[in-house]
Amino acid sequence: MKFSTRAERIEPFYVMEVAKAAQGLAREVAGTREPMIFLNIGEPDFTAPPLVRQAADRAVRDGLTQYTNALGLDELRERISGWYAARFGVNVPARRIVVTAGASAALQLACLALIDAGDEILMPDPSYPCNRHFVSAADGRAVLVPTTAEERFQLSAAKVEAAWGARTRGVLLASPSNPTGTSIAPDELRRIHEAVRARGGITVIDEIYLGLSYEEAFGHTALALGEDVISINSFSKYFNMTGWRLGWMVVPEAMVSVVERLAQNLFICASTISQHAALACFEAESIAEYERRRAEFKARRDFFIPALNRLGLTVPVPPDGAFYAWADCGEAARRLGVQGSWDFAFELMRRAHLAITPGRDFGTADTARFVRFSTANSMAQLQEAVARMQALIG
Ligand SMILES: Cc1ncc(COP(=O)(O)O)c(C=O)c1O
Repeated sequence: MKFSTRAERIEPFYVMEVAKAAQGLAREVAGTREPMIFLNIGEPDFTAPPLVRQAADRAVRDGLTQYTNALGLDELRERISGWYAARFGVNVPARRIVVTAGASAALQLACLALIDAGDEILMPDPSYPCNRHFVSAADGRAVLVPTTAEERFQLSAAKVEAAWGARTRGVLLASPSNPTGTSIAPDELRRIHEAVRARGGITVIDEIYLGLSYEEAFGHTALALGEDVISINSFSKYFNMTGWRLGWMVVPEAMVSVVERLAQNLFICASTISQHAALACFEAESIAEYERRRAEFKARRDFFIPALNRLGLTVPVPPDGAFYAWADCGEAARRLGVQGSWDFAFELMRRAHLAITPGRDFGTADTARFVRFSTANSMAQLQEAVARMQALIG
């Protein structure tokens, strides 16, 4: 069977290979050895709070299951607009908000709306693997720009200027980032956007983890920089609704109708049931629960990052958001007699029953040295993970 060159270009998601191996091993040793601890998971270990689940039940019971407008329920767009005002002090009119099937659909719509064949998009190395595939699926070319710890593993204005070429269309950023949990310093972000704007390019920023920010210095939306910033967001992370497939994007006014046309054709609309349920995310009771959970994520970070550092799994930049730790495993791998993050991850899986993610998916620059730990797991499991690593490499 012949497949499109576009489909052939998409690389496998190695994270899934590791996850499959971990699940296989967990089944094999069930009952005979200590259970596998999964620190490779990129989603919250919480589910949607009660009001949201009750709203979903109600939507089903009342038969609110027809298609919605491609841009999403007006009431939900208004609620999201209200959230930007209340939480970030930024005025984002509902008419610029497009509700999508997760951030994934928003990223695809942004790429399809903005990229022509051969256009280049600059993004940091390391970054979320799907981003370069979204660009590639739109026949564009993702240009991975190696970053350093000093840059918080993010692009800098100087690097954007240096990497900008005749075919560059813009930048695709994520703040806080997956896999590092680090945000772009606000001043640097402003300079990046100015450099992009001066070259007639576009700034797309994935703010899916912005709700899970733990430091006042970083927890601000890039939408404050101007109407020309495109921000991607989602109900998956802060709102704990990964499987509900619901997200949104904020676009410049002039882009709304283009995205609407694409969304009508490609998706018709995001899940109607999820949209009705998501209205309840913004009730005071739900926000209080989300804030309690955010504090829990922060407490896990505050326990786990120093513990990793003590184990010689150095985290060069403390994460200020999300639930990840990007750790240098060079020294720890040597202690286990292996080389590189891929072998280190498998060794940890076999010998300590700990599943983590090797850096390989996230780029090419320095990813053989780094692994990603997810702290989206209970404090008890994180403590047990540290004890097992201590026994093995401490
Ligand atoms: C940085 C980033 N962007 C986008 C996504 C996709 O999220 P969604 O579930 O909203 O499609 C993820 C999921 O892990 C992510 O980490």
